[in-house]
Amino acid sequence: MDAGEQTLALTSNGGLPMVIYWGARLPDDEDLAQLAASARHDLTGGMIDQLPALTLSPESGRAFAGQPGLICAEADGTPLHPVFSFDRAEHSACSLSLICSAMGLTLAHRITAQPTGVFTLQTVLEADRDIRLHWLAAPVLPAPQAADTMIDLHGRWVREFHLNHVPWAPGIRMREARTGRSGHEHPPYLILPETGCTNTSGSAFALHYAWSGGHRMVAEELPDGRRQVQFGATTGAETQAKRRFETAELVALHSTIGLNGIAAAFQRDTRDRVVKWPNPARPRPVHYNCWEAIYFDHSLADLSDIADRAAALGAERFVLDDGWFGRRDDDTTSLGDWTIDRTKWPDGLQPLIAHVKSLGMTFGLWFEPEMVNPDSDLFRAHPDWMLGPVDQVTGRHQLVLDLSKPQVRDYLFDAVSAILAGHDIDYIKWDHNRLLPVVDAVQSHGAYDLFDRLRAAHPGVEIESCASGGGRIDAGILARTHRVWLSDCIDAEERLRMQHDAALFLPSCVTGSHVGALHSHTTGRALPMAFRAWVAAQRHFGFEMDPRKISGADAAVLSEVTAWYKANRVWMMAGTILRLDSADPTVTSEMQLAADGGRFVLFAGQNAQTVQILPRPLRLTGLDPAALYRITLRNAGDAPPQSRGPNALKNGPLTLSGRALMGQGILLPVAWPATMWVVEGERL
Ligand code: DGJ
Repeated sequence: MDAGEQTLALTSNGGLPMVIYWGARLPDDEDLAQLAASARHDLTGGMIDQLPALTLSPESGRAFAGQPGLICAEADGTPLHPVFSFDRAEHSACSLSLICSAMGLTLAHRITAQPTGVFTLQTVLEADRDIRLHWLAAPVLPAPQAADTMIDLHGRWVREFHLNHVPWAPGIRMREARTGRSGHEHPPYLILPETGCTNTSGSAFALHYAWSGGHRMVAEELPDGRRQVQFGATTGAETQAKRRFETAELVALHSTIGLNGIAAAFQRDTRDRVVKWPNPARPRPVHYNCWEAIYFDHSLADLSDIADRAAALGAERFVLDDGWFGRRDDDTTSLGDWTIDRTKWPDGLQPLIAHVKSLGMTFGLWFEPEMVNPDSDLFRAHPDWMLGPVDQVTGRHQLVLDLSKPQVRDYLFDAVSAILAGHDIDYIKWDHNRLLPVVDAVQSHGAYDLFDRLRAAHPGVEIESCASGGGRIDAGILARTHRVWLSDCIDAEERLRMQHDAALFLPSCVTGSHVGALHSHTTGRALPMAFRAWVAAQRHFGFEMDPRKISGADAAVLSEVTAWYKANRVWMMAGTILRLDSADPTVTSEMQLAADGGRFVLFAGQNAQTVQILPRPLRLTGLDPAALYRITLRNAGDAPPQSRGPNALKNGPLTLSGRALMGQGILLPVAWPATMWVVEGERL
């Protein structure tokens, strides 16, 4: 099968199918029988007499020496070791189901070539009786042999999306998210670069498990040298004996143009296939979110004043964050009581909404539907609605509601729906601040059901996925939401790095990024407004600082960057973020290239003092070598006093070929730390 520029070829020797080729697209006349023959391994001493195949679900029953793709048992706990026979293949235009059976079990592997250039793969297990499932991998793919390292992700609250470069070695690299969310700790993404791959060149593969409830990843090098990668739901997530189980979708892609080919495909797939936009043509509105300005301290007068100032700075959507409901004066109470706090809002939210609308902004509201505080009317009325053991430790003073219960989902649907129906609201910030006390896939299915019902009832409302920042970012949640809150850290220096690494997986249009206060609320660091504003303008732009506390000079800078974002957002959000290989580790740089290649913007963020005195040339990428481009430094005024020389870009545009820009690169002016150079490019 072909998807975009990649080919996946499989064969079966009468048992479960196996991959014989995954990589760059093969010619249409490739002889597949020869390809299958070429994939056969030798045997040697110390091995069993027939090499157990690395199939789409390696089988313990065939003495496969590594992690099997299926671990299941009879309902009474007796282990099952099925040895599957191939039954049939079912084709449609761009999908394939490969169906095998054994011992009353049917195992189907489904593969779809998506128009966005990725493959999606899923495993479905059915039985003629109730069985217990310990582990079910999505279709298992081989990992490249010509590779020294893999790149996976780790993170924590206020430090999300860090790349781990993990050396391949015999044995297992295992990551498991057991917190009931895709998680800050290790989001379900993996990149498998071949040796020598950079951002801009080389071969790489990538996988993403599209599930929000926690996952397990196994990347294993067998004693015989073969490598496999498995993704599935957290072990133990299926708590009931059943007749049918299925994995989430595994997204698989290959690039021949370096990590940027991975980034481009993930960005395109998320934006054009996964996210279901209420109105795809709507430009991403500039947000104002009041959380860091006022926290729980709500008053109509203050928020109206803030709204006036946010609108004057260019905001187009005003989001009222936590604190409007129950008796929520801090984070110890009221989750679950989704009625307006009349002590803060004696006339309800209508006066604020009317004011916001009169300023030309739309209105968004914060919820955390899946949670309950022990100090809430909901918990007092329904103590049995909580998930997990009675004597569990709370997290942020809260418990989780058991979403497997239809009456809990009905209550939440009615409560959230009533607020949406009664007010002019076009946006929900949907938070999820507590780790789950138990692992259970039913909880995530319940959450998905709640999202789906609310979206069907209020199709014009956009939703942001937030989980203490970036704790729930995956294609499962993005199929139901339209923005992710990448991190509670809006310190621009941290964000620059985080956004750079997250761009391997997430498009600009879904990645929320806000301008914070002068002194960051999560790091204490003070950064200039220009840097804070340009870093936020790299993604879906917004403000979160208190606009009553910024100087006139800072307001002018912010207004100018906001106007720039508005003038450029349509093509930027439809374009591709390409990471540059900066020769200077103190410079984090990317290009955003329009879909038609006709224009680009280059962001070069100086995040520390350079080792050498002069800036190193920065090589561009993704351009037509033969074309000419006019490049203009947008913000030469940000050059520090030490920039005394004749750097040409400070004085006006340059016209250079794509070959020169990509081969030699450009020289930017000297910069202080916390400077973002912005270079606009236009193809002539
Ligand atoms: C955690 C979120 O990440 C913040 O942005 C904010 O919405 C708070 N929760 C509100 O309690």
